[in-house]
Amino acid sequence: MKFETLAIHGGNLIADDNHPVVQPITLSTTFHHKEGSPTYSRAANPNRHALEQVLAKMEQGKSAAAFSSGNAAGMAVFQALQPGSHIIAPNDMYHGMRKQLEEIFDGILEVSFVDLTDVESLQKAIRPNTQLLWIETPSNPLLKISDISALSAIARSNGIKVVCDNTFATPVFQNPLTLGADLVMHSSTKYFGGHSDILGGALITKEEDAFWERVKNVQITGGAVPSAFDCYYLTRSIKTLPYRMKGHAEHAGHVAAYLTQHSKVEEVYYPGLKQHPGHEVAARQMSGFGGMLSFLIKGDADDADRFISNLRFFTNATSLGGVESLIERRAGVEGSDSTTPPNLVRVSVGLEHLDDLLSDLDQAFEAL
Ligand SMILES: Cc1ncc(COP(=O)(O)O)c(C=O)c1O
Repeated sequence: MKFETLAIHGGNLIADDNHPVVQPITLSTTFHHKEGSPTYSRAANPNRHALEQVLAKMEQGKSAAAFSSGNAAGMAVFQALQPGSHIIAPNDMYHGMRKQLEEIFDGILEVSFVDLTDVESLQKAIRPNTQLLWIETPSNPLLKISDISALSAIARSNGIKVVCDNTFATPVFQNPLTLGADLVMHSSTKYFGGHSDILGGALITKEEDAFWERVKNVQITGGAVPSAFDCYYLTRSIKTLPYRMKGHAEHAGHVAAYLTQHSKVEEVYYPGLKQHPGHEVAARQMSGFGGMLSFLIKGDADDADRFISNLRFFTNATSLGGVESLIERRAGVEGSDSTTPPNLVRVSVGLEHLDDLLSDLDQAFEAL
């Protein structure tokens, strides 16, 4: 099955005698004790099972685990580690995941934040107790690119598990498991949901090994699982994921090109641009460059805020991956400990008509 077909049929598991075309929502939290049936919805539910099937297939993994948010999915990986383990993570890791490591796992896990765009820095950061390498590429919000194959090869030769946050790229454009990663993590709140109305997260594994058993135990016994409703809607949204991603990437490419030639823009971060420092690696490991970009506006935080408030079709809101374009001054959202430049504007380029998006940006710059 090709990807587009898989996205439509891979999660449509129907066991209803009425033969509906789409899988019904099973709201029951409990099930008759019968051979082969689920017992209790925290452990297994038909809609979650369907979602996990399509997630595993899209990422070319053996198995998947769905969670109630991306952060819960990431946390399940950290909770599956032995206390005292050392983690190597990117120095521009999504700030919510970084906050978990710094605040929730303080005193439980050791962490080094390093620049993973430089492969050498991984080698230098490895300690005898390093158990996990966390990669995020393209990264949020700087769109930095890390070489998944090169980093995974070093990790593998040191017995270190590799997890890749694939939220920005999605499996439409990047498959970390085929490049050497052991697990893939997603905030399914973003492109998988695609309409800014479902919170969710996912992990997909290459092998059903002992570490995966620990992760599944955190999912089921920890209990941060999505509802049957959320699983149903996510499985439904995934059916259009390949076509939405084509549109997001096409529009982002045009918006990035427009911004690079604008006199009020200092720098544009989009891995599809030839001048992006990670372009070569991105072109090797991605089949498209995604729908996210950031740029530095010439001026300060106030100029960036004024520009954003001039826009009509880009909503000033956090999050990403929905059909509607979203924009935000990222440092303002990350808070006082943010290392993001104050004039950095992050854009989730949506599926409105490109002419409307470009003319909206034009008038907002004009009014500055
Ligand atoms: C790259 C990345 N990873 C993880 C997350 C966390 O996901 P969630 O908000 O669904 O918990 C986000 C959220 O913005 C993200 O952008």
